Amino acid sequence: MFTLRSTILTIIISLNYELCFCRCAHAEYEIDEQCCPMCAPGNHVLRHCTDHISTTCAPCPSLTFSDEPNGLMKCFPCTLCDASLRVNKECSRSSDTVCGPLERFYCIEKNKGSCRFAVKHSECSPGQYIKQAGTGSTDTVCADCTGGTYSNGSFSSCLPHTKCDAMGLPETNPGTQSSDSECGNPPANLATISLSVIVPLIIIIIIVGLCVFTIRYRPFRRRVITIN
Ligand SMILES: *[C@@H]1O[C@H](CO)[C@@H](O)[C@H](O)[C@H]1NC(C)=O
Repeated sequence: MFTLRSTILTIIISLNYELCFCRCAHAEYEIDEQCCPMCAPGNHVLRHCTDHISTTCAPCPSLTFSDEPNGLMKCFPCTLCDASLRVNKECSRSSDTVCGPLERFYCIEKNKGSCRFAVKHSECSPGQYIKQAGTGSTDTVCADCTGGTYSNGSFSSCLPHTKCDAMGLPETNPGTQSSDSECGNPPANLATISLSVIVPLIIIIIIVGLCVFTIRYRPFRRRVITIN
């Protein structure tokens, strides 16, 4: 039993070695036909190991990073976010910068969860409404206004044209897909007409009445004075 198990183990191990050509162990790298321990993420190799001394590692200098165990002599330069992007997460010694689209932009090229390039959301034309607002990863979706509705391109839904008829107003401009209808002034109605006639009429009657009264009263008073 023991021999069988050790035989199987030997086969698996030798197979493993042959299949991946790994002469070095998992956390080691090969240099000059020798296996050296890798440096941890955030570091790079300063000196390769010797028979007596292990690998010498050094932290990545500023604006460089290494995000995996490695046998590299240099760290990678931190990514600079494109002008269409903003920094979502600053670069650290062990992780690259994470860029994301600016407000009103959406990402069209991604790499490992970071955006490489973004473009501005489309704007809807007059006569269209915003069916679906753009996001960080999708463009705006526009759709046409139909059946007596309008939008100037910035509405989230089409609005029905104002019904001048229903308000008793004349329509001076019929609505379009992109603009509302326009109503004129209310037509002069009976109340306004009667008001504009009756009020001056009353004023005239009062004035005329006063004149007549004054003219009639004067001779009467004069007569009384004469008698005295
Ligand atoms: C559309 O109308 C809204 C509100 O009336 C206004 O704020 C906006 O500037 C208009 N947009 C365009 C493209 O004319």
